[in-house]
Amino acid sequence: MAIAPEIDARVAQLRAELDQHNYNYYALDRPVISDAEYDGLFRELQSLEQQHPELVTADSPTQRVGTEPLAQFAQVTHRTPMLSLGNAFADDEIAAFDKRVREGLDADAVEYAAEPKFDGLAISLIYVDGRLATAATRGDGYTGEDVTANLRTLRAIPLKLRTTKAPEMLEVRGEVLMLRADFERMNQRQRELGEREFVNPRNAAAGSLRQLDPRITATRRLAFYAYGTGAAVDPELRKHSQLLDRLSELGFPVTAERAVVKGVEGMLGYYGAIGARRAKLPFDIDGVVYKVNDLSAQNTLGFVSRAPRYAIAHKFPAEEATTVVEGIDIQVGRTGALTPVARLKPVFVGGVTVTNATLHNEDEVRRKDVRIGDTVVVRRAGDVIPEVARVMLDKRPAQTVQFELPKCCPICNSEVHRAADEAIARCSAGLFCPAQRKQALLHFASRRAMDVEGLGDKLVEQLVESKLVHTPADLYKLGVVKLAALERMAEKSAANVVAAIEKSKHTTLARFIYALGIRNVGESTAQDLARHFGNIERVAAAGVEALQQVQDVGPVVAQSIADFFSEPHNREVVEQLLAAGVSFEETAARQIDTENPVYGKTFVLTGALPTLTRDEAAQKIRDQGGKVSGSVSKKTDFVVAGADAGSKLEKARELHVAILDEAGLLKLLES
Ligand code: IVH
Repeated sequence: MAIAPEIDARVAQLRAELDQHNYNYYALDRPVISDAEYDGLFRELQSLEQQHPELVTADSPTQRVGTEPLAQFAQVTHRTPMLSLGNAFADDEIAAFDKRVREGLDADAVEYAAEPKFDGLAISLIYVDGRLATAATRGDGYTGEDVTANLRTLRAIPLKLRTTKAPEMLEVRGEVLMLRADFERMNQRQRELGEREFVNPRNAAAGSLRQLDPRITATRRLAFYAYGTGAAVDPELRKHSQLLDRLSELGFPVTAERAVVKGVEGMLGYYGAIGARRAKLPFDIDGVVYKVNDLSAQNTLGFVSRAPRYAIAHKFPAEEATTVVEGIDIQVGRTGALTPVARLKPVFVGGVTVTNATLHNEDEVRRKDVRIGDTVVVRRAGDVIPEVARVMLDKRPAQTVQFELPKCCPICNSEVHRAADEAIARCSAGLFCPAQRKQALLHFASRRAMDVEGLGDKLVEQLVESKLVHTPADLYKLGVVKLAALERMAEKSAANVVAAIEKSKHTTLARFIYALGIRNVGESTAQDLARHFGNIERVAAAGVEALQQVQDVGPVVAQSIADFFSEPHNREVVEQLLAAGVSFEETAARQIDTENPVYGKTFVLTGALPTLTRDEAAQKIRDQGGKVSGSVSKKTDFVVAGADAGSKLEKARELHVAILDEAGLLKLLES
């Protein structure tokens, strides 16, 4: 069926607008619309593409959601090797570098392009005819890993170049990193989920990028900054600084922190200036890079062993300081995880005063053998989380004792359990433990959950200590009088909190499920559950089997959900919340008919179907409670085969699995 021209035009316009907004946000750092407005445009495009799948193109902004997981990363051989940089720490090493350059060029004073040295991961992006074709990690410099599927999900990376005269081939190199603010947000979420936190933004970026499942990468906000090109450079460009300007025009984020400087004085001036602002930059850097600005001069200088002669990294000294461990406290998180934290004599390191440092877990404390009274070296790893780097054993006072994690929860005295395969020990008391209760309440009230404004740390602490609130349901029983009786609580603010609690009653099922704080259930799982089951009673009643029918819910998550609802106390809280008047906006939920022939069945899709894309077919199956798997086994119920189906079809025949074509599938879905 022909597409109406106005739909075609709207789709094109939405794509152009979304690309422009990505560019404004990531490359220009000047967003002109809110995230919500962006999401609105995005959803409109998504819905048009769903109605007219033939309009979907590989470079549509909707294609950044991530494809099915990979079995492993393929290898990519770099067309020109991705080399490393020589390092310098001291000023005289920079003077020696400049001298070598001047001698090599037979010049008096040399112009340098100075840039931050991003503390992320080096990436090569290959554009063929203006479209992103391959993205690869640096690897050993000669061969890297193909991370195209993951990199495509980054809104900072253009899927097509912003030009009408794209070169046949362009290789852009730069650094993928996570902005500090995004890192903080992500760790906050990890904490709320009771999951492991990332040590620093660099690790978080690396972990996000090296996911075999691009859909996970898509949920992490990663930034990218271009700092050069590999193969194929425009011969018209004379300077590195112009090259970066060009990359910016082509749609790549290029940092505004760069400068063009002259001679040793210029380089050291830049180093000092950036160093002074380092703590205020939105991302971590571990030094600066100087590059001879003239591109033909770069060529003249060439390379020595594995590093260019025309560039050098001027690193910042590691930020460390020594201090004394005054105590080791145990924090209890929302899921009961016990985290040892070193209480430190305040020390200034990396631009901030550090008073405590996480020791992560029991094994980590043992490995470093940190004891109360020890003098330790504290490091601000990646400039973010202060860490105890090592103990200065020669300064250890007599009679220290090895750290032992308590056998009982320091807050509620309940037993502490540690599973054999886990590094984390947990308090076994669940919500009976006041520490877990506080964290659970904070999570319940948090912005992305029930969004109760004004219910912060201090107030929750007071509410729990005063025994006014035991469970989230108790929040809805609070009145102004009870609240105003609390210390430091004026009647006006009490009234505001009560109003905010009242307002939170009108929510969505997804937020409500997320707010319950079920282990392993984050926002997106909560949304999937809401969509799949449509109401909370169904979620609570679902067994592990039924739960696993939900998109992306595997055995571990399913078990967590089932465990949560098998606890009578939890069911009671849910009932009380509903009785208190918590109600849900209509979710787009479809009630799944569990009698339909697709429900609970496992499908494998192979080959090209005549009208449906693979994703659409999979969605239709999932919508009716079926599962879609990547490989054929004895557990497969149906193989849906299209044109050019290969080994999966053969395997299906071998195992006598039912084989359908698209028409057969559609019939099954309708019956
Ligand atoms: S230019 C020939 N510029 O540093 C080498 N590299 O040791 C060209 N890096 O892993 C590299 N910021 O990813 C260059 N502004 C910058 C950089 C930068 C960080 C990283 C790079 C590589 C390492 C080189």
